[in-house]
Parts: sequence; C-alpha cells; structure tokens
Amino acid sequence: MILLSHSEDATLALGSLLAKHLSFGQVVTLHGDLGAGKTVFSRGVARGLGVTEPVTSPTFTVVQEYRLADHKMFFHLDMYRIDNEQAALAFGIEDFLFANDAITLVEWPERIPKLLPVPPVLPLRLEHADHDLRQITIPDELASKLHDTPLPDGITLLPLTQTSSQPE
Ligand SMILES: Nc1ncnc2c1ncn2[C@@H]1O[C@H](COP(=O)(O)OP(=O)(O)OP(=O)(O)O)[C@@H](O)[C@H]1O
Ligand SMILES: [Mg+2]
Repeated sequence: MILLSHSEDATLALGSLLAKHLSFGQVVTLHGDLGAGKTVFSRGVARGLGVTEPVTSPTFTVVQEYRLADHKMFFHLDMYRIDNEQAALAFGIEDFLFANDAITLVEWPERIPKLLPVPPVLPLRLEHADHDLRQITIPDELASKLHDTPLPDGITLLPLTQTSSQPE
C-alpha cells in the first residue's frame, strides 16, 4: 500500500495507528533519505505504544530504549553513523534485533543488511514527494491489518494513476 502524508502530524498519526498492529518480537526497518520522516514516524509509533517521555533521534546515541507496560520494550535504532556490521555487533545490536519482548524500529538498515533477521522484518519506505509531502510504502502484511480502519487526517492513498505504469 502506498500512502501520501501531507504533514508531520499526519506521519505521526500514521505511526501511532500502525503501532497498534505490530507484534512483539517484530523488527521494522525504515528506509528513506535524510529528512524523509523516519524519526517522525518512529515518534508516532512510540506514542501508539504508550511512550509518554520525549522521543529523540538516536542518530548520536545509536539506540534509544523505552520501557512499555508489562516489561515490554520499544527499541529505536539509527544505524546512520554505524559503518559496518562489525561496528554494530560491537555495541551488541543483536540484543535489540532478536528481542522477543520488544518492538524494534531501525533507521538506516542499509548499513547492516547481513544482520537483519529474515523474516520477520517489516520494511517501510518513506520518500520525499514535495515540501511537506511524503510517500510512505507499507508492506501488504501490515496494510492488510488496517482493513476498514479510517486513515488519519492528512494521510491519503496514492492516486492509482500515479502507480500504474504508462505505455511507452
Ligand atoms: N509529511 C511529513 N512527514 C514527516 N515529516 C515531515 C513531513 N513534512 C515535513 N516534514 C519534516 O521533515 C523532517 C523529517 O525529519 P526526520 O528527522 O523525521 O527525518 P529522518 O528520515 O529521520 O532523517 P534522518 O535520516 O536524518 O534520520 C522534519 O523536519 C519534519 O518536520
Ligand atoms: Mg532520523
């Protein structure tokens, strides 16, 4: 499913909504350029999971850990400054990628392709479309759980005309 987010608040709300459909033990990878909205989306997921403390970007800390109810955890990782798999292993990334009682979001998963569990990784993609417009691609496995749930304000389906391929 391909969505358009028209504002930061809409991306937050989408993260919050999708959080309700994630399962513990699941790793979600967030693909997309600098400023595409990965951290904004993660903040929304955190809110949806009940995190009330401020959710800051883990770019410099690499990982932020948030305690949820019932001894569950939310891990927010940012691999941007991690050069390779060795560096990731050195800080103990496996503890975050293979945690049954946690939901783990990974920004810049392209840095550590060989370490990601295959499956269950849910890959999401965020892309710049215009100034405040972002295209967000959600895997079918997650999209199918939305059923008839109304999309948050400021989130629309990408018009089909833009996804169908045009004849040469
Ligand atoms: N529709 C939108 N959704 C999300 N963010 C938006 C949107 N429109 C504008 N923005 C702005 O884009 C920026 C997104 O920043 P964010 O830190 O979430 O990006 P990122 O993908 O995490 O980047 P990085 O790779 O540097 O970690 C914010 O400044 C936010 O206000
Ligand atoms: Mg970020």
